[in-house]
Formats: sequence, structure tokens, C-alpha cells
Amino acid sequence: MIIVIDGPAGAGKSTTAKEVARRAGFDYVDSGAMYRGFTYLYLKLGQDRTRLIDILDNHRLRFDFHITEARVFHGDTEITGDIRSDSVNSHVSEVAAMEEVRDTVRQLLRDVSRDRKVVLEGRDLGTVVFPDADLKFFLTADPEARARRRYDERIRKGEQVSLDQVRENVDTRDRIDSTRDIAPLKKADDALEIDSTFLTFEEQVARILQYIRSTPTLSQDKVN
Ligand code: DC
Repeated sequence: MIIVIDGPAGAGKSTTAKEVARRAGFDYVDSGAMYRGFTYLYLKLGQDRTRLIDILDNHRLRFDFHITEARVFHGDTEITGDIRSDSVNSHVSEVAAMEEVRDTVRQLLRDVSRDRKVVLEGRDLGTVVFPDADLKFFLTADPEARARRRYDERIRKGEQVSLDQVRENVDTRDRIDSTRDIAPLKKADDALEIDSTFLTFEEQVARILQYIRSTPTLSQDKVN
């Protein structure tokens, strides 16, 4: 059973997807973590696109998705923290625009979701990766609200960052993610759009759970 939540950076997809997964008894899958994992490799390979593409069949990345947790490993090394670094933030849109990387991630996402109940979050899940998902959401919020949320999140983690820097990163990623030729960020025609600018986190989660309860293929499961 597949529920997808797509939308731009900072719209609250991951916190929302995690809480929905927890309350609906699904596992949470973070597709951005996969693009970030490949960006980590790209940086390790000296930003050499050809070398990255050469190792895609033997990338040694491992993604462990549990109820609300997404952990990433490269070989035996855990890189869950490293994939959120500034350098990965700055290059991830570039790597996510590479067709070969998208093909690899698309396959990984389908493999990881097979025969499981999952809530996935990303950019092109409803349009390209899972066009037949049981339920699709497109979560938005105005750019200022999204930059502010990302900023608060990073300050809470103890990072030294300015609101201007975060705003610029969010704007740049929005632009690259929505204008790239392959699988741009786009609402699927059959996705339910939720604008979270003026919603509390609880309201946002409640709205999604309500849709899950009213979807026949999903509602036989207990949703709290
Ligand atoms: O959600 P995030 O910020 O962790 O995503 C990191 C980048 O990965 C984002 O800038 C765009 C890309 N991405 C994508 O192109 N397609 C997805 N399904 C998920 C993420």
C-alpha cells in the first residue's frame, strides 16, 4: 500500500509523513535521502559526474527505513548526518537532475516499497515513480514560510546559519527542481493539494489521516 507526499523544500513533508506513518501504522520512506546519499558519493568522487555514473551499479549505499526513521550507510559507515551537510544541500539538486541517478533511485524506491505499507515523501513520486499510488498528496506553503521552517529546524539542531542563507538555498532548489527536464517537481493531476501556510502541524496531519480513513483500499487498517 502506497501513500505519497510530494512538494517543495520546507513544506513540512518529512515531519508530516513521519507522523502520518506512525499513526497509520505504515513505514516512512524519504526519497530525498537517496538523492542526498548519491550527492555524498558525488562529492567524495570530486564532483566527477562520469565517475558517479560509472559506480551506480555498485554504489554500496544502503537505506534503512523504519516507522519514522531513515538511516543511510555507505559500506559500513553511517552517513545519516553527513547527507544533511551544507555541501550536500548545495549540490543535491544538481545530482537529482542526472537521468542515470534518477533511474537508479526510481528502482530503489520501488524495491524498498514492494509488499509494504509505506508513506513516501519526495518531488516526483505521484507523477513518475508511483503513478498508481493508493493516495497522493501535494503539500505546499508559501516560500517565506518554508524558508522560516527550514531555518528553525537547523537552528534547533544547533547549526550556525542565517535566514537569508536558508532562503537562498530553498529558492535555488525550488528553481532547479521545478524547471529540470526530467521528472520536475509537479503536482500529479490526481493528487490532493494541501497548502500548509496557515495550518498547524496537527491540522495538516489530521487532514491527511482523514483522507486515508476515507480511502477504501486503506481504511480497513486501523488509523489512529
Ligand atoms: O526533500 P529533500 O530536501 O531531502 O530533497 C533533497 C533534494 O532531492 C531536492 O532538492 C530535490 C531532490 N529530490 C528529487 O528530485 N526527487 C525526489 N523524489 C526527492 C528529492
